[in-house]
Amino acid sequence: MNRQTKVDILRAGLAAPSADNSQPWRFAWCGDDLDLRIDASRSGLVSDTRYVLSDLAAGACLENMVIYARTLGYVAELQTFPRHDDALWVVRIRWRCDPECNTSEPLAGAIGQRHTDRRFPWRGPITTTTQTRLNAQAGAIPGQRLYWPQTPRERKAALKVIRLAETLRFRSPTLHRELFSSIHFPVGWHSTCEEGLAPATLAVEPPLRPVFQMLRRPATMTALNRLGAASVLGWRSAYLPIRLSPGLCLLVIPSTSRSDVLAGGRALQRAWLEATLAGLSVQPYAAAGVLSLGFAPVEPALQRHLLRLASALDELCVPGHGLVFLRLGYARSAPRDRSGRRALASFGDIP
Ligand SMILES: Cc1cc2nc3c(=O)[nH]c(=O)nc-3n(C[C@H](O)[C@H](O)[C@H](O)COP(=O)(O)O)c2cc1C
Repeated sequence: MNRQTKVDILRAGLAAPSADNSQPWRFAWCGDDLDLRIDASRSGLVSDTRYVLSDLAAGACLENMVIYARTLGYVAELQTFPRHDDALWVVRIRWRCDPECNTSEPLAGAIGQRHTDRRFPWRGPITTTTQTRLNAQAGAIPGQRLYWPQTPRERKAALKVIRLAETLRFRSPTLHRELFSSIHFPVGWHSTCEEGLAPATLAVEPPLRPVFQMLRRPATMTALNRLGAASVLGWRSAYLPIRLSPGLCLLVIPSTSRSDVLAGGRALQRAWLEATLAGLSVQPYAAAGVLSLGFAPVEPALQRHLLRLASALDELCVPGHGLVFLRLGYARSAPRDRSGRRALASFGDIP
């Protein structure tokens, strides 16, 4: 494998999504083998306790690289979680040049186009043919599936779960701190940044921006929560956009083992790339699935909400564990601002 090929494969990986744009990936080449590791300095805390969000991001990054390398005639052989005593080592990828490999990989064309869109309202409908296409991509990773709430009752139940989780992110001081620490207010409302969330990507309406910015102060949030601010924010950030979007689905993984979460990240990425090819906008909502696992260290007084969340989510999608919701719809145009990425050299041993 020449240097340019290695760099191009890594660049495809970096285009993957990650929670809060944390980009928790480290790369190391060992000859032509590539190790994908989780970056200890960007993972493992609060909602990412036990690396659920990082494993999802690693799965998405891995899938991008596998898809892209295939277009160059390379097939990936994967050894996942190679060492039990090294929790950060996610996968060793052995690239095999295969002259027989079918290099036509339509999803590769969407790798650079895929992005998160938090605007609304969006148009629809999302036809069953499109749903089937997304299902097929998620299902290409063994054990993974998408659940689509179809009836008004199912949609209402799903909305309730998401809203409960998003409300908790503002009500719990620990989750509030985590949420606002990933937003880079100093870059202003008109530029993006290479790591974390730029305010411009959050789709906050101009008149609400000063209020939103004030909410980053814990004392302000606590005071406003006495007046029900967390509920209003849960309504605005989750309920309203989802009500005004034609599509909602949930990535369901067979178990919460790290291998299945990693595979879930791969399935998520395939479905998201397919949605991009279909012209759909996508916003993930991960709080419900991740908080319901019960690992996040929220305040004891709020623990009962996590239990409620877990049982409501279970009812939605047995068998399996619902991990990430995707809001879907057709936007009139692409968003003006997209999240950036760090320079390639900051991800470790780059050829
Ligand atoms: C595991 C995971 C969880 C995410 N959770 C959320 C979420 O709850 N809400 C949200 O608006 N975006 C969420 N995102 C989207 C990321 O914030 C987004 O991927 C990141 O900022 C990079 O931007 P991009 O997708 O436009 O490249 C999530 C992404 C991943 C991979």
